[in-house]
Amino acid sequence: MLILQFMLIIIDRGIYLRKNILGKIIFQFIQIIMLHIWLFILFPIITKSQFNTVLPPQMYYMVKCFYLLLSAYQIRCGYPTRILGNFLCKGYGYVNMFLFKGFMIVPFLFELRTCMDWMWTETSMTVFDWIKMEDIFAHIYQLKCSRNMEDEYPQPRGEKKKPLVKYAMGTVILIIIIGIIWFPLVFFSLGNAVGESNIPYDVTLEIRIGPYEPVYKMSAQSNSIFVFTDQQLNEFREVYSAYKASETFISNYEATDIAAVKLSVDSANIWSISPPDRLKMVEEINSTSILKVRLEYKVSHKTSKPEDSGVIPDNVEITIPPSVDGGPGDVRNNLLKMLQGQTVGPTLFEYILPKFLKVTNRGTAAPVDLFMPKTEVEEAKTYRNVTLKLLRDTDQEWWQIHEVCNDTNFVALLKDIPFQDCNNSVIVYAFNDKIFPPTLNFLTGGGIIGLYTTLVLVASRVLRGFFADQCGKIMFEDMPNVDRVLQLCLDIYLVREAREFALEEDLFAKLVFLFRSPETLIKWTRPKEELGDDDDPEGEGQ
Ligand SMILES: *[C@@H]1O[C@H](CO)[C@@H](O)[C@H](O)[C@H]1NC(C)=O
Ligand SMILES: *[C@@H]1O[C@H](CO)[C@@H](O)[C@H](O)[C@H]1NC(C)=O
Ligand SMILES: *[C@@H]1O[C@H](CO)[C@@H](O)[C@H](O)[C@H]1NC(C)=O
Ligand SMILES: *[C@@H]1O[C@H](CO)[C@@H](O)[C@H](O)[C@H]1NC(C)=O
Repeated sequence: MLILQFMLIIIDRGIYLRKNILGKIIFQFIQIIMLHIWLFILFPIITKSQFNTVLPPQMYYMVKCFYLLLSAYQIRCGYPTRILGNFLCKGYGYVNMFLFKGFMIVPFLFELRTCMDWMWTETSMTVFDWIKMEDIFAHIYQLKCSRNMEDEYPQPRGEKKKPLVKYAMGTVILIIIIGIIWFPLVFFSLGNAVGESNIPYDVTLEIRIGPYEPVYKMSAQSNSIFVFTDQQLNEFREVYSAYKASETFISNYEATDIAAVKLSVDSANIWSISPPDRLKMVEEINSTSILKVRLEYKVSHKTSKPEDSGVIPDNVEITIPPSVDGGPGDVRNNLLKMLQGQTVGPTLFEYILPKFLKVTNRGTAAPVDLFMPKTEVEEAKTYRNVTLKLLRDTDQEWWQIHEVCNDTNFVALLKDIPFQDCNNSVIVYAFNDKIFPPTLNFLTGGGIIGLYTTLVLVASRVLRGFFADQCGKIMFEDMPNVDRVLQLCLDIYLVREAREFALEEDLFAKLVFLFRSPETLIKWTRPKEELGDDDDPEGEGQ
């Protein structure tokens, strides 16, 4: 579709440059007929939806209608007899200048136009000469506009610049530069302020012993996920007022970013392991191989990227060693007894439950190790001990989980955190990054590194373009009076139009010579008042 549109533009331009009015009429009729066949007959057949039910084709149709209308008007008026350069370059005011600069900024537009013009115009130039010519013209044209503006606002001679102007300009430039450097960082640090709170809507916890049917499975939906209030956040911070790192971490979040996830101690499912699997499980527990216990957790939250489902899976795995002090150890013994139907105390699994999760927009939900500082054991800073117990009714079994809540950290700190309720539930706290409004997605798509490399590098290159290498350009930028050079360019267009190709070659050679010889260029671009004193510089340029 895009290619087709492109072809149409090229053909239209071609017809315009050849000034073929008959061709244009035929092209116009073909376009009208094809447009209607396509939109009103083929489109409904292909997409099985009526033309008037979808917006994009309607808009396309409208734009196309305006284009056809304007084309019809052009056919009626006829093509201009002379096509001299760019239509923006008819005048030399600001409006034209800024429009022309805008035209030059649009990626590939200048190149495409130059190339198409060369294809369709009769000329003696090669494409490379043509490009040179267009480049010179664009340059001289912009200079002419600047000179015109300077004439309108002349600078008095020998007057120092006003401090106000200097400070205003200087400050603006400095702010822009510093802004470019800091923008990504500021943006990301503000990110937590501009976004909306993004509390998970579902948290699921699952514990497996070996590869068998999960023993405990529970999920918390929004009615058991509690958002902190400002009051509760203050209580939370109060608890950790003596711990700088923990407090700093909390202060990165607002109350509405922190959630307490309340999971019931009883598994949601009946334990429905098949008898053969149960035998295998018993064998594995009774064997001398390592037994793996996995806690899998899944946090589901909203994301701003459509390709990201927002479900963050992660897991903690601990191993039960084959032997403890020469025997199978309490864990294995207890599990075996439980599986055989004996009543025993709860079985302890060490350091398996992540109590505090940091949920990010990058799709991670890593445990935080800042909230249980009162311990020497590294794992104890992140994970909690839990006990598991197999309960049975007359004919069904289910597991129960409890957090172990008599350690120093709990007694000194955790018990005072709001929502803590060790007897009746398992509480997990989630610290959630804010979600960016979807409108800002394009910025955050590549993350901070992407933003930095594109924005800062590109911006710095562009800026360097303004600041560096000025000296090489002076001879072409600081021409006081470009009227003659501009006239030469326009003459070339004119003789080309008149099919005087020998003259075109001569004049272009003259233009090239001018740019090869700085001395001649200086003579050619003298200010008007000096011109009279000198010989006609045109005579020397040959
Ligand atoms: C565990 O293994 C030992 C010997 O390897 C065996 O005597 C015992 O009965 C087994 N226990 C169970 C519960 O299978
Ligand atoms: C915690 O309680 C369990 C039994 O409920 C006990 O065996 C253990 O020693 C206690 N731990 C501490 C640090 O008090
Ligand atoms: C976890 O259990 C181990 C072994 O019983 C014990 O040494 C440790 O203190 C417990 N840690 C916590 C935080 O309860
Ligand atoms: C939890 O249970 C323990 C003992 O079983 C009891 O001392 C404590 O008061 C209970 N806590 C709550 C909040 O019910």
